[in-house]
Amino acid sequence: MDFGLSEEHVMVQDLVSDFAQREIAPKARENDINEYWDKDIVKRMGELGLLGAPIPEEYGGSGMDYHSLAIICEELERAETAFRVVMSVHVALNSLTLLQWGNEDQKQRYLIPQARGEKLATFALTEPGHGSDAANIETTARREGDYYVLNGQKTWISLADKADHFLLFATLDRSKGYKGITAFILERGFEGLSTSTIHGKLGVRAGNTGQIFLDNVRVPIENRLGEEGEGFKIAMSAIDQGRLTVAAGAVGLARACLEASLKYCHDREAFGQEIGKFQLVQQMIANMQLGIDTAKLLVHRAAWLKNHGIRSTRETSMAKWYACNVALKAAEDAIEIHGANGYSNEFPVERYWRNARGAVIYEGTREIHTLIQAEYALGYRKD
Ligand code: CAA
Repeated sequence: MDFGLSEEHVMVQDLVSDFAQREIAPKARENDINEYWDKDIVKRMGELGLLGAPIPEEYGGSGMDYHSLAIICEELERAETAFRVVMSVHVALNSLTLLQWGNEDQKQRYLIPQARGEKLATFALTEPGHGSDAANIETTARREGDYYVLNGQKTWISLADKADHFLLFATLDRSKGYKGITAFILERGFEGLSTSTIHGKLGVRAGNTGQIFLDNVRVPIENRLGEEGEGFKIAMSAIDQGRLTVAAGAVGLARACLEASLKYCHDREAFGQEIGKFQLVQQMIANMQLGIDTAKLLVHRAAWLKNHGIRSTRETSMAKWYACNVALKAAEDAIEIHGANGYSNEFPVERYWRNARGAVIYEGTREIHTLIQAEYALGYRKD
């Protein structure tokens, strides 16, 4: 076992940390208040090779490993959650899934422009009536000659209004349960596909989240990913990748909470001394540090397994579950340490709390992860 970062990992961390702190963090508060999705930052992420970070060079990517992917997500979310979300949906849920399940033609047509940052992509599974119960989706696909005709609605889709490509799941036969679900690659220009943005979210306000409407959308047969009925497995394998990026991002968010708290502990005085001297404050600081370090170990264990091609559903779920809880508790305590100032958007910690609250819900609620862990422990669930 090696707990150190390689020279390459340190370089990636320095590069992304510098980019995120110089170009993302200064605008984060304003973009959050204005619900502004900053496409220029996403363009810069493409120029830096982040949008294809773990994709092999032959498919337009940077050929990095999963530790680097985790480091990128951690440093991005330390500045602002919205840009880690881009990594989660564009890179992890979509591009890595095309790499694993796509045929050569699909990789040439979709993966390469995505990895180069020329096209933006997302992942569409959740529906108005089906979030955790993903095997029960209602969007239908019907075969008509060389096409499938899709009808239905997706919601809570990150980048819905911004993406060029969609990895979307529909059922060919609902009576077959998850065995009827099939995966499709859709393009924004397909007739009958429209999108909208959801406004008024509690957090990730600088991120784009929306709905997708499918009205008799004709999808060519060559845009089916995998075989008919393989869609649920494809979706779950995609989520195994996405959850690593959410977990790594949550470590970054918890670090941001700790950093803001440490600064405030030194700057703020009460009862004649800086508040860092008070033991109840120290307890919160110590717990944040413990949570960050343990969450990071879980993230990099999952990354290590992925680097070695070992299925890590259990370990990735654990990392996502734990790291998101750590981030939420760190944000809660950071607000406590900031007192009334923590309740104001003059300080960043209320944004951290709102963003952490969402991470506990998407890509598997904490209840779903609790059940997954219990089922593995009891032997009811096996890989
Ligand atoms: N990889 C490959 N195959 C998998 C798999 C994985 N990780 N997980 C399950 N499967 C396979 C199983 O092996 C099984 O196949 P077999 O019968 O051939 O063995 C099949 O899929 C069905 O698996 P389950 O019985 O475990 O399915 P389930 O209906 O019990 O569901 C669940 C399990 C854990 C509840 C799952 O539905 C789940 O994780 N739900 C949460 C969904 C979720 O995270 N949604 C987030 C959407 S993405 C998002 O939010 C981000 C965004 O912005 C778009």
